[in-house]
Amino acid sequence: MKIAIGSDHAGYELKESVKEYLKSKGIEIVDVGTYSEERVDYPDYAKKVCDEVRSGANLGILICGTGLGMSIAANKCRGIRAALCLYPDMARLAREHNNANVLVMAGRLMGKELANWTVDAFLSAEFQGGRHERRVKKLEEME
Ligand code: RB5
Repeated sequence: MKIAIGSDHAGYELKESVKEYLKSKGIEIVDVGTYSEERVDYPDYAKKVCDEVRSGANLGILICGTGLGMSIAANKCRGIRAALCLYPDMARLAREHNNANVLVMAGRLMGKELANWTVDAFLSAEFQGGRHERRVKKLEEME
C-alpha cells in the first residue's frame, strides 16, 4: 500500500507523527511536504497529494490546522473524495459509505494518538458498495 501525505505549517507536526506511525507499520509513504513550520498555503499541498492519488497512490492524507481548508481544496480536484474526520468512526464511515480516497485531519484539534486511531480506521475500512455505489456515482456526475 502506498499513501501520499501532505500538510501546511499548521499540520506539519501531526504529519510528521502520522508519517512515523505509518512507516512503523511498513506502509510506503510519499511525503509531498511541507517540510517545516514556515508558513505556506494549504491549497498547494492539497493539490500535490491529490495528484499523487490520481496517479497511483492508494489513498491520501492531508492535515492543516482545522482540516477545513485542505478538505475544501482537495474536493475541487477531479476524482477526489476528501473527508475531514476528527474521530475513527468518521474515518471508517468515510471509506465504507463515501468511498473517500483522501483522509483530512485537523492538526490543531487532534492529538497524535487520536490521529493514529483515525488513520487506522480509514486504512482498514473498505467501501461497502451497494446502495452507496449509486450515491458516489452521483458525486462523480457533479464533477
Ligand atoms: C493556517 O493558519 C490555517 O488557516 C490552516 O491550517 C487551515 O486551518 C485552514 O483551513
